[in-house]
Amino acid sequence: MGNRMTRNASYTTLTDVTQPASIELVDSFYECIRAVVSERKYLARLEPPSRDAVESFTRDAVAGRIDRFFALDKARVVGSCDIIPAEREGFPHSASLGIMVHREYRRMGIGSRLMKKAIGAAWDRDPTRIELEVFGSNAAAIDLYRKFGFVEEGRKLQARFIDGVFDDNVFMALLRQHNLRTQT
Ligand SMILES: CC(C)(COP(=O)(O)OP(=O)(O)OC[C@H]1O[C@@H](n2cnc3c(N)ncnc32)[C@H](O)[C@@H]1OP(=O)(O)O)[C@@H](O)C(=O)NCCC(=O)NCCS
Repeated sequence: MGNRMTRNASYTTLTDVTQPASIELVDSFYECIRAVVSERKYLARLEPPSRDAVESFTRDAVAGRIDRFFALDKARVVGSCDIIPAEREGFPHSASLGIMVHREYRRMGIGSRLMKKAIGAAWDRDPTRIELEVFGSNAAAIDLYRKFGFVEEGRKLQARFIDGVFDDNVFMALLRQHNLRTQT
């Protein structure tokens, strides 16, 4: 992991983007997840994960098993981006991306900074494909992903029905090499 595992970052600047230095940020991260989940629009889950689960996947980041970066306002987690390597046999080249920014902190460049850090770190692990799923109504996220080179691979039409509205599930991916030879 080299120096990506910085363990003594300071949390002083609004858009200070850093990997979690320690488990001390778990409660704040949990609150950020709860806030975004409660909006009911952007994430597939409608209930937050347990605090224990949040601690567990924060430990995965601290241990270097996944790439996760936090955006911090002093010691408050206001955004997060993670890229998780696939574990299944046959998918060693693949990883999946998730991102969120607290609604009070959107449109300030934080999402872009998180994406840049997380994608850079993920490529260091040597995957060739980063994939994600996003709801078709989520124009902000789709725009952000396109800016980073993600392309739409397909969509499940009317995949979700919530609060009286259908939404598509859009599949997007970013390939490090666009001309990979495939086995036939
Ligand atoms: C998607 C999200 C992470 C973007 O984070 P952000 O910090 O607001 O993004 P940035 O300020 O870096 O904006 C980067 C680009 O994203 C796009 N974007 C962001 N907000 C947008 C909006 N409201 N409408 C249209 N495009 C938008 C724009 O292309 C923008 O570039 P620009 O400012 O030069 O126009 C944030 O809106 C969010 O957390 N949403 C809720 C959770 C979520 O949707 N997660 C993704 C689930 S798949």
